[in-house]
Amino acid sequence: MITVIGSINMDLIVGTDVFPKKGETLLGSYFEMNPGGKGANQAVAIARLDGEVSMVGRVGIDSFGEVLFTKLEKENVNVNCLKRANTSTGIANIILHERDNRILVVPGANSKVTPKVIDEHWEHINKSSIVVMQLEIPIETVEYTLNKCKENRIQVILNPAPASFFKPEWIELVDYLTPNEHEFETIFGEKVDRMIEKYPNKVIVTLGDRGVCYHNGKKLVLVSGYKGEVTDTTGAGDTFNGAFAYAISKGFSLEEALQFANIAASISIEKIGAQSGMPTLAQVEKRLSIIK
Ligand code: RIB
Repeated sequence: MITVIGSINMDLIVGTDVFPKKGETLLGSYFEMNPGGKGANQAVAIARLDGEVSMVGRVGIDSFGEVLFTKLEKENVNVNCLKRANTSTGIANIILHERDNRILVVPGANSKVTPKVIDEHWEHINKSSIVVMQLEIPIETVEYTLNKCKENRIQVILNPAPASFFKPEWIELVDYLTPNEHEFETIFGEKVDRMIEKYPNKVIVTLGDRGVCYHNGKKLVLVSGYKGEVTDTTGAGDTFNGAFAYAISKGFSLEEALQFANIAASISIEKIGAQSGMPTLAQVEKRLSIIK
């Protein structure tokens, strides 16, 4: 079983052809409300692939909380460790402009995922083969969980987003760290090619449609991406992380797991919304067979 410990947001998406300047009001071109949050997205990505996955998190007592709770259940994510906190649900304000996005998250109930919550659900978490986390819940919870997983020999995939909260000493506590290029530079203060060899087979840098790279102890390895039809890149990184966790849990080699995750991410960007385009196992296998 894989457990995702992380954020659950309602994404409020506004599309615009022109990006507003400071103090300016413009008319956007469309609005959509979709389930999101890096944690929930990664859990749904695993569930769509038929992976066994549990979500540890908190939604609020408002209507968004109700919708997001039900959505995770419908996606076959185990919600035994998902509860409603006496506050508002996390939201993400997403502006889509020229096929790219800018995101502002207001954590709400995600900030209630405290170390106490980890203790409350530890018996369940401790049965996991892999724990997946991101940085949209309190950092003391991330640190607490990393230490507990290390003590109990549970594999951890940490997606360090948003990267500014990452603490360098955590690198010793994780099995895989999956920053994108910007996050890598925020964390290490260096360009990818200069630092990555220090963390062989551990730091996996996502490069958008170019794929991903990592150092295998001897050389830098680039696992090429697949250029799909781009409609909305929101959630592509989450699909990558979820699919990567799934593939590792199934015993794929690192390179195979990365190729599988790249393909899943390339399919996810064909629809609007973080979770709408996330592929099933059959869809990933079909595209893999085409490119092989
Ligand atoms: O990674 C995309 C996600 O980031 C969105 O769904 C949004 O909720 C934010 O958490």
